[in-house]
Amino acid sequence: MHLSKLEAQKQWNTNPCGGVGDHLAGLEVGSRAYFDEIRRSRYEDSDPWMPRVIDFGCARGKRLLEIGHGIGTDLLTFAEYGAEVYGIDITEEHHRLATRNFDVHGQRAVLKLCDSAAIDFPANYFDVVYSHGVLHHTPDTVRCISEAYRVLKPDGLLILSLYYRYSAFHLFSKLLYQGVLKGDLRRLGYRGLMATIEYGADGITVKPLVKTYGRHQLRDILADFSQVRFAVAHFTREHIPRIGRLIPRAAEKWLEPHLGWYVIAFATK
Ligand SMILES: C[S@@+](CC[C@H](N)C(=O)[O-])C[C@H]1O[C@@H](n2cnc3c(N)ncnc32)[C@H](O)[C@@H]1O
Repeated sequence: MHLSKLEAQKQWNTNPCGGVGDHLAGLEVGSRAYFDEIRRSRYEDSDPWMPRVIDFGCARGKRLLEIGHGIGTDLLTFAEYGAEVYGIDITEEHHRLATRNFDVHGQRAVLKLCDSAAIDFPANYFDVVYSHGVLHHTPDTVRCISEAYRVLKPDGLLILSLYYRYSAFHLFSKLLYQGVLKGDLRRLGYRGLMATIEYGADGITVKPLVKTYGRHQLRDILADFSQVRFAVAHFTREHIPRIGRLIPRAAEKWLEPHLGWYVIAFATK
């Protein structure tokens, strides 16, 4: 297996997505309360843009695959909105926790431990393929997207969310502030600096691959799809260190479509 994929497994086997923070204190890992609190804090505190931008009801009565489901937070939401859900992930711990998440909620999912570069499902099988925050962590992103295309039915929808290259978080917080002003670019190199975005990664001993994408580049990669539109989301003034506090909170919603940390492609096969 490619070294970057082993790094991804090391990262997320050790630090399951969403599984840290004071708000989880006292909750038993794997309990329903634990998963519910992770989901609440995702949609209300850390990523309130998600229920606004992602239509979790879009696959009601349809078959949906999530690529890189993590602990299953979004996949469970799609299921509760009435989708027939399937998921793949490369990390054993995420596979285990997502299975548990569905069990404690009494929901059904078909989950496979599987690499997105070779999706273990037939062609033309899914109405919707969803992937959030995953395919920028793998060296073969283009191949993974062609796999997503293969398993989608004609007219099927790909919802693909990746880190946005021209975001305030990438340009100001990581590159300028942490990279240049604090010296981490020289100390860790660009690859190491970017790895530190992920919880628990120090950019030296734990160094998951982290790439960013622009709209033009993504449009080229998605050229086989018949229609593509983009959204950019997830901006807070804290993404601009020091001077960001001068931006009124009310202005964040105007800046979000330009400077947000995620670019989300909605692509129809
Ligand atoms: C940052 S987490 C995001 C998880 C989930 N989508 C979420 O938003 O909480 C990245 C996920 O991608 C998975 N992943 C990374 N590379 C992968 C690959 N090549 N194939 C399948 N899953 C992969 C990791 O195991 C991890 O679960």
